[in-house]
Amino acid sequence: MCGIVGYIGKEKNALRILLNGLKSLEYRGYDSSGIAYFDNDKIITIKEKGKIEELEKILDYSIKSNIGIAHTRWATCGDANKTNAHPHSCGKITIVHNGIIENYNELKNQLQKNNKKFISETDSEIIAILINKYYEEYQDIIMAINKTKEIIKGSYAIAILCEDIKDKIFAIRKDSPLIIAKSKNAAFIASDVPAILNYTNKYIILNENEIAILTNQNITVLNDKLQQIKKKLLTFKGNITDAQKGNFKHFMLKEIFEEKDVIKRIIKKYNTVEKLNNKLNFLDKYNSITIIGCGSAYHVGIIAKYLIEEYANIPVNVEIASEFRYKKNFFDKKNLAIFISQSGETADTLASLREVKKEKIDTLGVINVPESSIAREADNIIYTEAGPEIAVATTKAFTAQLIIMILITLYLGYKNKTFTKDFLNSTLTNIDNLEEEINNILNKSYKEIASKIAQAKNIFFLGRNIDYGIALEGSLKLKEISYIHSEAYPAGELKHGTISLIEKNMPVISIITKEHIFDKTISNIKETKARGSFNIVISNKQVIDADINILVPDVNPILQPILVIIILQLISYETANLKGCDIDKPRNLAKSVTVE
Ligand code: F6R
Repeated sequence: MCGIVGYIGKEKNALRILLNGLKSLEYRGYDSSGIAYFDNDKIITIKEKGKIEELEKILDYSIKSNIGIAHTRWATCGDANKTNAHPHSCGKITIVHNGIIENYNELKNQLQKNNKKFISETDSEIIAILINKYYEEYQDIIMAINKTKEIIKGSYAIAILCEDIKDKIFAIRKDSPLIIAKSKNAAFIASDVPAILNYTNKYIILNENEIAILTNQNITVLNDKLQQIKKKLLTFKGNITDAQKGNFKHFMLKEIFEEKDVIKRIIKKYNTVEKLNNKLNFLDKYNSITIIGCGSAYHVGIIAKYLIEEYANIPVNVEIASEFRYKKNFFDKKNLAIFISQSGETADTLASLREVKKEKIDTLGVINVPESSIAREADNIIYTEAGPEIAVATTKAFTAQLIIMILITLYLGYKNKTFTKDFLNSTLTNIDNLEEEINNILNKSYKEIASKIAQAKNIFFLGRNIDYGIALEGSLKLKEISYIHSEAYPAGELKHGTISLIEKNMPVISIITKEHIFDKTISNIKETKARGSFNIVISNKQVIDADINILVPDVNPILQPILVIIILQLISYETANLKGCDIDKPRNLAKSVTVE
């Protein structure tokens, strides 16, 4: 949610470096962008509405500057227009901000009483105004930043330039991600690793209450007492191609094609009973599980609930993080709270984790981004190892989360003796062998189905049990990238009102993979067909009532969701592609939702 980049180096090509950094962070927001750099003694700010390519068109690359900050915005406070785009300036200070300043109205009112003028509608401008005010008062930039940090409430990652100090960038953060990186002749600030990978893979994570000072020679970090501290240098383990599109038309398609490799990478670490035991035996002490997440991560939770309850005989409660954090919850020391998140920075999931930790309940993070906030704060952590996911709509991270939850199911089921060691071993082997089935799915064309769906205004996804969980994710995937309205329903629930929406030729996509409820879902499909729907059925057995029947390989039922979801991801992709949508950067969205 908003991308920040900062560069200070010996090379005077700041504009290019900042723009390239912004492009690699565009998935974090793309309704406007801007850049501020030193041109001799002056800070020059250039911003533009729309995608980064609009900013690119108006930048003059012949300008030689070795220091600057830049921002790509996902509007939270104030419309997506040029005035509200970052950077924001006041007096000598220019800033870019990711997050939300919650008390900005109160602060704005106070400042307006003292005749302070505001140019934008954003909460962020207050930061530039406050730092400038305290800079004028103390004549010391660190004191000014520190004082501002004490006053503002909310979440922020902020990069700061001061016109009097042309050889330094300053940065602070709270509840919004920010990394600081160093190469031989330069230092960088970025919201995420892809922005620095062309120059270095070494970085540090700034903690709350710390202030970073970057020069082209070094990075200094001060703690809350303004004393210099040493930080651990981390190394990003992936490589630059992970964050590049390669020969694929879109990141989303590349990431769907990577899913089989992700599964292989994960299963290598868990493919024997011994390895499973070693990695997961901390799960032994719990009688129940609560899973908390947002969006697709929440859908993984729903699927996992069906799996764990059926195969491991342990009750599971699934919660949407934005609801969980503000409602009454009942805590039990024998309950494990699992937080699922690709980014590890989702504001509501992080806040829920903190709520649970206050109650001294054990927590587990199932996280993709190493060293993210949830990864650092959860008691236990399982990395999903999907690598950087650039497309805004999640695909490979979703599948990786699902595989981890399947492994947890297998471990718990084996411990609880709900199935045999033979079943466990054969399922682990089945996971290892999924590659062939996935290749078959990837090699098929979904264009014909996409052409049936692309014209629709409304679509229903139906399923029961695990298939309902998959339907939820299939529906989200389709609507977020193709802008076709769709809803997922438990198949038996449709007739309790929603069936009134079925019209002639309306596509209904049903998923049927569970043997014991196969016929029940078929009955529900018939009910929609009788009202004129066009029925697309994804099933592991032939369905004669289907207008289009996609047969999914009849694998071990625990693994069935993996195959179905890849088919649904491909259908969504092809539909959005046919409609000419901006697949990797759907309108109004951003990856990593660090505001609530
Ligand atoms: C949908 C999607 C979102 C995320 C949700 C949680 O394709 O990507 O629904 O799943 O915003 O994000 P993380 O997993 O980063 O907590």
